[in-house]
Amino acid sequence: MATNFDIPKLGYGTWNRDKKAAYQGVLDALDIGYTHIDTAPSYQNEDAVGKAIKDSGVDRNSVFVTTKVDPHDYGEGEVLPAVEKSLEKLGMDKVDLLLLHFPSLYEKYPLESYVSQFMDVYDKGLTQHIGVSNFTIKHIEESLPIFGDRPIYTNQVEIHAYMQNKPIVDYCQSKGIQLTAYSPLARGELINDPVLLKIAEKHNATTSQIALAFLMNLGYSVIPSSDKRKRIQDNFDAESIHLSEQEIASIETLDKGMRLNNADYCPEWDV
Ligand SMILES: NC(=O)c1ccc[n+]([C@@H]2O[C@H](COP(=O)([O-])OP(=O)(O)OC[C@H]3O[C@@H](n4cnc5c(N)ncnc54)[C@H](OP(=O)(O)O)[C@@H]3O)[C@@H](O)[C@H]2O)c1
Repeated sequence: MATNFDIPKLGYGTWNRDKKAAYQGVLDALDIGYTHIDTAPSYQNEDAVGKAIKDSGVDRNSVFVTTKVDPHDYGEGEVLPAVEKSLEKLGMDKVDLLLLHFPSLYEKYPLESYVSQFMDVYDKGLTQHIGVSNFTIKHIEESLPIFGDRPIYTNQVEIHAYMQNKPIVDYCQSKGIQLTAYSPLARGELINDPVLLKIAEKHNATTSQIALAFLMNLGYSVIPSSDKRKRIQDNFDAESIHLSEQEIASIETLDKGMRLNNADYCPEWDV
């Protein structure tokens, strides 16, 4: 399946940011030059994110906005109203990318039902692109016939140097599905890694910047989050770092399957 890839390589994540922090973080990110903002209904900050985008003065058409459908809203007839509510909060008539945030928690709702409803939302034009998040190979295989010729634009999954998530990465790449790496900094766990530190020194960069550059050099989009302007800037600057094949290979050895998102409602991950 071919996809026209235009998810900006670098986005600003807003999970775990209350409205005030999300508002300021998005303003800072847009001012620095980010063109992609990631939010979700469960982050409870879509209104603040939408307001920050508006107040930033940046042309709405220059910002790629991603939000998601919450799995609690996968019941019969519930997906469209949930998306309409998100759009109302964002103050937008359309987003750039809409994701199913998770496969149905504990398989409560049949995939056929909520994915079909999701197709209706797309066909109504409420989003430019559609994709999935936290979908396993099994969930994508089951979804593909329902998507039909509508591209699965991305699978947003946890990927960082300590959890490189190869099975789902390889599968998505074989299907032409772009990967978006969430928790790309492993929520700060990578900061003192000796291998990253050594490479960082060579590039006059921070370990976080090298961790992000690694993922972007592999072709993934990344959506790091910070509430500190200096770090939001540092993360942005990571896009211009080019790592050698040898440096990439040495970071690849750091994979230790350290999954951070392992709540009991998560699907059975591919390993
Ligand atoms: N689809 C999903 O299920 C899902 C799940 C999780 C996350 N996400 C998305 O992915 C985004 C990012 O993931 P995440 O927030 O879990 O983890 P992350 O971006 O890997 O890490 C965020 C943490 O790293 C710190 N940090 C950020 N930049 C740094 C830097 N340059 N140097 C040192 N520390 C830095 C931040 O602290 P400070 O704020 O103190 O700087 C924060 O504690 C989320 O905001 C959300 O949009 C999606």
